[in-house]
Amino acid sequence: MCGIVGAVAQRDVAGILIEGLRRLEYRGYDSAGVAVVDSDNALQRVRRLGKVQELADAVATNPLSGGTGIAHTRWATHGEPSETNAHPHVSGEHIAIVHNGIIENHESLRTVLTERGYTFVSQTDTEVIAHLVDWELRSADSLLQAVQKTVSQLEGAYGTVVMDSRDPNRIVVARSGSPLVIGYGVDEHFVASDQLALLPVTRRFAFLEEGDVAEVTRFEVNIFDKQGEPVEREIKESEVSHDAGDKGQYRHYMLKEIYEQPVALQRTMEGRLANGKVLASAFGDNAEALLQKVKHVQIIACGTSYHAGLVARYWLEQWAGVSCNVEIASEFRYRKSHVYENSLLVTLSQSGETADTLAALRLAKEMGYMASLTICNVPGSSLVRESDLAYMMKAGAEIGVASTKAFTVQLAGLLMLVAAIGRGKTIDDALEAKLVAALQSLPAKIEQTLAMADDIEALAEDFADKHHALFLGRGEQSPIAMEGALKLKEISYIHAEAYAAGELKHGPLALIDADMPVIVVAPNNELLEKLKSNVEEVRARGGLMYVFADVNAHFASDDTMTVLNVPHCDEFIAPILYTLPLQLLSYYVALIKGTDVDQPRNLAKSVTVE
Ligand code: M6R
Repeated sequence: MCGIVGAVAQRDVAGILIEGLRRLEYRGYDSAGVAVVDSDNALQRVRRLGKVQELADAVATNPLSGGTGIAHTRWATHGEPSETNAHPHVSGEHIAIVHNGIIENHESLRTVLTERGYTFVSQTDTEVIAHLVDWELRSADSLLQAVQKTVSQLEGAYGTVVMDSRDPNRIVVARSGSPLVIGYGVDEHFVASDQLALLPVTRRFAFLEEGDVAEVTRFEVNIFDKQGEPVEREIKESEVSHDAGDKGQYRHYMLKEIYEQPVALQRTMEGRLANGKVLASAFGDNAEALLQKVKHVQIIACGTSYHAGLVARYWLEQWAGVSCNVEIASEFRYRKSHVYENSLLVTLSQSGETADTLAALRLAKEMGYMASLTICNVPGSSLVRESDLAYMMKAGAEIGVASTKAFTVQLAGLLMLVAAIGRGKTIDDALEAKLVAALQSLPAKIEQTLAMADDIEALAEDFADKHHALFLGRGEQSPIAMEGALKLKEISYIHAEAYAAGELKHGPLALIDADMPVIVVAPNNELLEKLKSNVEEVRARGGLMYVFADVNAHFASDDTMTVLNVPHCDEFIAPILYTLPLQLLSYYVALIKGTDVDQPRNLAKSVTVE
C-alpha cells in the first residue's frame, strides 16, 4: 500500500527519495511522485503513473536539485490511478504534502475549503490536507502549528508529511493510524512509512506513536504527542539487514522467500527450544504464568495469516485442550462477540500494520480479554507495540506480496504457543518433547520438500490454460488447501477455491469436469481413508487430480491422477510441509502465465487502510 519517504539534508535528496520509493515498491502501488524545494525556494514536482522506474527516468531527464523533499507511491483508494491523483499534492505555490491512509471526512472538508476559495484538481481525499495546511498557515505561527491545527480536523487514518517552500529546511510529519519512522543521520534527517526505505542512509530510527506530530530539520527532531506536549521517542538501531530488499540469485522475491524458509524457521526457533521444551519467554516476559491460565483462545487475522489461525484452531483444540475461535479481522471488528473466561486474544500478522487487525486488537482491548498476544514479523510495528505479549517471528523482510515464509514461520510460532498453553493441561513432558523434536526437524524436512521444485514446475504446464482450480484437504489440511487457493489466485489470476473435502458432495462436485483441475493435499493421517473416498468421488465425475501425498499414503499416478510424493513427516508439522508444494505450484503457474509475481495487480503488501 502507499509508501512515504522524506528528507531534510544539505545534499540533493531526489536520488535518496527515489531509491527509498524503490525499496517500498513491494508494498504495491499504481503511481509515484517526488517534490523538492530548489535553491530559489520554489517547489519542483514530478509525478508519473506506473512504476517508480518511470518516475526515475523522468527525473533523470529533468534533474531535481534540493536538500528538502518528499516522495510517495500511491495505491488508489479515492480517485483512479492517474498522474493528477498521484502525490505529492500541493496547495498554491508553496505547500506540498504526501499522505498514507484515508481521510474519512474529506467530503465535508472539501465543501468548506471550496467555499473558502480553494480549487481542487484531484479526486483524492488527500488534497484536503494540502489546502487545510495552507489555510491554517494564514493564522498560525509556524508550519508545525498549522499541521497540528490541520490534523485536529481530520477523521480517519493518516501518516502525512508536509513541506512549505518558504521555510525550506523543515518538514512536519504527523501520524494517526498509518506508521511513520524518523531516520537519524549526521546533520540530516529522514522520514518514511517503513524503515526499509531508509536503510541505505541510516540505521537509527524512532517510531512515531499514534497522534504524534514532529518537526524535522537538518539538526533537530522535535516530537509532540496527541496533547501537543513535547515527548521523546526512543531511537533504536535497526536490526533489519541492509540487503533485505535484494533478490540475490533469484528471479523473484517470492521464489527467494520460498527458499529462505529453512533458514527463517531455524532463526525463529533458535534459543526458544531447549531440552525438549518450548521456552515460554519467547512470548514475552512473564508469559509462562499467563499462558498457563488460558482456557480459550480468540485468533484474529486477515488473508494468509487468517489461514495460519485456522490451522492453529485444530492444534489448540486437539493438543492443548483449550477452545479456540478464529475470525477475519474485518468481520470481528463489526460484530458483537462474547468474551469467554480466561480468554487470550491472539493477532497474527506478517506486517504488524494491517488496519483491520489493528482495529480489532484495539476493540478487543476494551472487551475484557485476559491478555493480548501478537505473532508478528516486524519489530516495532503497531501490533507489537500495542499488544501485551509478542512473539517475534524472525522470517526476515518479506517483500513478495504473496506471503510465503511468513506463513510457515507463523505456524511454527503457533505450534510453540500450543505447547506453552497445553503444558500442565493436556501436554505432558513426552508429548512436548515430541512436538519440539518435530519442530527441530522442520528445516531439514523443508529442504527435502523444496527438492520437489522441478517436478512441480513441469506439472505447472497443465495449469497454464485453465481458468479455475479446486483445492481439497481435510482436518488441519483444509486451511492449507485454502492457502494454496489464495496463492494461486493472487499471483496467477486463476480463479481457485478450496473446500474441506468432505463438503464436496454438498455442492462443489457439480463443478467437476476435465477443465477443473483438483489439487489434493494428502498426508498419511487418520483422515486418509476418508480423503481417499472423496478422491474417488472426483474420479467418478471425470475430474483431473494432482495429489501431493505422503509416500506411505499409497496413491499412484494414472490417467486421471498425477501423484507427487511429499517427504514423510511427523503429524505436528504436516500442515507446514504441505504448504510448500502449493507455494511452488502457484509460483510456477504465474511464471508461465507471465504475471507480475511479486507485485500482482490490484494488491498491496501491507494493507494499512480499511
Ligand atoms: O501483514 P498481514 O499478515 O497482517 O497481512 C494479511 C494479509 O493482507 C496478507 O496475508 C495477504 O492476504 C497476502 N497477500 C497473502 O499472500
